[in-house]
Amino acid sequence: MKLEDIKNITVLGAGAMGHGIAQLCAVAGYNVVMRDIEKKFVDDGLGKIKWSLDKLASKGKISADMVKASLDRITTTTDLKESVKNCDFMIEAIPEVLKLKQDTFKEVDAIAPKHAILATNTSALPITEIAAATKRPEKVVGMHFFNPPQMMRLVEVIYGAKTSKETAEITYNLAIKLGKEPVYCLKDIPGFLANRVMNPPGNFLAWLVSEKIFTPEEIDSASHFKLGNPMGTFGLMDYVGLDVGYNVQKFFEQREPPYKVAPILEEKIKKKELGVKTGKGFYEYPDKQWRIPPEWSKEKAEKVDHMMSAYVAINKAVQIVADGVASVEDVDKAVRLGFNMPFGMLQIADSLGLDVVVQKLEELDKKYGKIDGLHALLEPHPLLKKMVKEGKLGQKTKQGFYKY
Ligand SMILES: NC(=O)c1ccc[n+]([C@@H]2O[C@H](COP(=O)([O-])OP(=O)(O)OC[C@H]3O[C@@H](n4cnc5c(N)ncnc54)[C@H](O)[C@@H]3O)[C@@H](O)[C@H]2O)c1
Repeated sequence: MKLEDIKNITVLGAGAMGHGIAQLCAVAGYNVVMRDIEKKFVDDGLGKIKWSLDKLASKGKISADMVKASLDRITTTTDLKESVKNCDFMIEAIPEVLKLKQDTFKEVDAIAPKHAILATNTSALPITEIAAATKRPEKVVGMHFFNPPQMMRLVEVIYGAKTSKETAEITYNLAIKLGKEPVYCLKDIPGFLANRVMNPPGNFLAWLVSEKIFTPEEIDSASHFKLGNPMGTFGLMDYVGLDVGYNVQKFFEQREPPYKVAPILEEKIKKKELGVKTGKGFYEYPDKQWRIPPEWSKEKAEKVDHMMSAYVAINKAVQIVADGVASVEDVDKAVRLGFNMPFGMLQIADSLGLDVVVQKLEELDKKYGKIDGLHALLEPHPLLKKMVKEGKLGQKTKQGFYKY
């Protein structure tokens, strides 16, 4: 199959991600079937698409004709069979439960045309295990959009163990057609690219809070006042909802010991202190609206090295490259676009100097490496040490992860 052969796209799930993905496909000119389990869910999803398209039209970003044509291309149903019987490409965006996804893929595999590619928008579940429920694992692929999919430009295209190159390439090109900037994740690893780099540093900082080495407000003050980070690490967790990141963290713990979720996160989840939406997370939100926590101060900022978590993130990005999971450019692009950062972590490593990064990681490892599971995050990756030995220190030697 070629990209041009795709005419009909089915989106399973009309929730936060599903309705946004359906909208993108319809605007790009595809016939879309959006399926959810109850009529009220599909109606709600379709209502949100209408609202969003009208808003785009009111800002002059698309014409009124385009709104109508896009809506005309979307049909909705609650019948799974009906939804996939004519599809060329399916994007699944149903809840993050492996068994549910496997059962759905198995059912879809039996009904969908033989040529159809079946993609999953899972945030963290293994593509290989979802694909194993079908008789076409070479046509099953990860297509990981970021929230909200209408706005966020990143799409991670993830290979399961049996995904064919053709399937991955069509998915990559489809993402471009939808106006996105895709990256390849060549191996099916927990967290894929962006979350794999950016979640462990948050857990590292949460461990320092659990061990009472720093308080959340000290860490966030440093990040806010010294780095210009608007929300800080714990403020951002509160904003997104602690449960969202926790599920990905838990997955790392199950799949990649000695990784261990910090006790403070476990406690907050147990107490249902999930952040802004519950009025309390690491900070309190009396109006259930995010605000700069009153506890932050420039004095508190002075107690903390604001770059600590960046070294951890760099170490994870290096591991991805060393393991042949993605190119240097794709890891950096995933972090930039997935987390709205001005630079990728390997660009930052090059500008700091790889010798400095190794030295800082060694210092952190010495101080905190004895804490449960942290040594694995803090021990400088062998590739970093090798590059330092070879004199590839980054910008200052004109060669690091990039050439200058
Ligand atoms: N929300 C995010 O930030 C985000 C980002 C990237 C990826 N994801 C992933 O996308 C997927 C969907 O997440 P979401 O946030 O849109 O969830 P959601 O709860 O908002 O929506 C899921 C929808 O799927 C429906 N559903 C349940 N079973 C179904 C089935 N068998 N067939 C069709 N629809 C079914 C539910 O009724 C619900 O409307 C998950 O795998 C999630 O991990 C979420």
